Amino acid sequence: MGEPFYITTAISYPNGKPHIGHAYEAIAADVIARFQKSQGRDVRFQTGTDEHGLKMAQKARDLGKTPKELADEMSQHFIDMCAALNINYDVFLRTTEERHHAATQEIWRRMEANGDLYLDRYEGWYSVRDEAYYDESELVTGEGGAKLSPQGTPVEWTVEESWFFRLSAYGEKLLALYSDNPDFIRPESRRNEMAAFVGQGLRDLSVSRTSFDWGVKVPGSDNHVMYVWVDALTNYLTGLGFPEETDAFAKYWPANLHLIGKDIVRFHTIYWPAFLMSANLPLPRQVFGHGFLLNRGQKESKSLGNVTDPVDLAGRFGVDPLRYFLMREVAFGQDGSYSPEAIVTRCNAELANSYGNLVQRTLSMIFKNMDGELGTFASNDADDTLLATVAQACRDDLPREFEALNFSAGIDAWMRAVFACNAYVDEQAPWALRKTDPERMRAVLLSLFMAIRDLTIAILPVVPAAANKVLDQLGVPAHRRGIEHLGDGDWFLSRVATGERLGAPSPAFPRLEMPEDDAA
Ligand code: MF3
Repeated sequence: MGEPFYITTAISYPNGKPHIGHAYEAIAADVIARFQKSQGRDVRFQTGTDEHGLKMAQKARDLGKTPKELADEMSQHFIDMCAALNINYDVFLRTTEERHHAATQEIWRRMEANGDLYLDRYEGWYSVRDEAYYDESELVTGEGGAKLSPQGTPVEWTVEESWFFRLSAYGEKLLALYSDNPDFIRPESRRNEMAAFVGQGLRDLSVSRTSFDWGVKVPGSDNHVMYVWVDALTNYLTGLGFPEETDAFAKYWPANLHLIGKDIVRFHTIYWPAFLMSANLPLPRQVFGHGFLLNRGQKESKSLGNVTDPVDLAGRFGVDPLRYFLMREVAFGQDGSYSPEAIVTRCNAELANSYGNLVQRTLSMIFKNMDGELGTFASNDADDTLLATVAQACRDDLPREFEALNFSAGIDAWMRAVFACNAYVDEQAPWALRKTDPERMRAVLLSLFMAIRDLTIAILPVVPAAANKVLDQLGVPAHRRGIEHLGDGDWFLSRVATGERLGAPSPAFPRLEMPEDDAA
């Protein structure tokens, strides 16, 4: 097994069904996990649900349920969404699990042993929607003069006995962390924001509540439950078996990447590293705050009536087209916009017409004109140039961009190689060679066959089901679908040696219908 690679998504509040933002994050994390696996890394991928806190307690009360009933019901929707979107996680963690309470109490004890926790009284603003404390100076004024959090959510004045974490003692250490590890926070704009925030000076953080009891109990302080973010962030350790010194913990901690939304970067790059330093645990290597997905440029909300169920979207357009669209359309780290028309346009142009057609044309000609038999071939310069272009895109450009989380740029390089293949088909006109020069026709089609094999392996992390279907049709064995098998000549020879024939191909990416009823 290769180098370990531990990736996590944020864990979601299961106070409602998943929305497109949850799907986007899960898909991006899954693409990264599959990509790293294809590079030979020993990947661990964790996701889950964040089930405690006031927001969950209040929502359950509104619905006349217990918070646990709400969590059980809704977390199942998140599990189902992952299944529907082909999200291949290793661990789905729920914070109501017993082992998670034990892990959270242990990190608390370590912070306490380090002298970072003390009892006092909190007086200040709290947003239940964000589960966040805000300083007066951060608030903004909404309609009618209401005070709102910087995220635009309502805040309430809160006064209660509370444990505090000495966050103020960590300012210098955090700034040093950011400057010594320029990639700790990405994208860079988020890093600058966080450094500016820390630079202004940090206040100690209220880390327990006494006015409700839906959370992890504070050890030795039974009337306190921990602030939901202390408990939530600890999920990244729980899933590895912490505090037991498990093999998984030794292998995968610190995490390589916490993938989260841009609105919760503060919790992950200020609170979390401070908690870990206090508990004497190593810090994650990178936190990436992705952007928001807008529906035709607007945030989805119940009042606008534009909330889209991501599972329905996948049902309508297909899982792989949806995954492809999201990774291709949005520059990772920035906000993006989607609409049914944009999904159809992008997927038809690139997946169906360019890539899908290339595969379909080539495999049909191999099937019809060569009886599906590969045989060996003698290439010429034109074929070598094509294969070099494809190899450059699949072996160098796409992996380099994906490694840096520039998915759109990586797919762009891939798409250019697809175009090069289509141009080669037109130039070489293999259908015309059938009568005039069958040997040459054979060489052209087999070069295309090799090119398609490489293109398909390279794009597999993005569109796993369809790409695997193509690789099945090409006869590529399951254990030869990693990036290290790109340009694998031995495989080709071994396939030829079996004398096995290719069957009639069936399209991996049928054209999508442009919606008519969606113009709203
Ligand atoms: N539930 C939080 C939110 O949706 C995210 C928690 S991520 C964590 O904003 F892992 F840190 F807990």
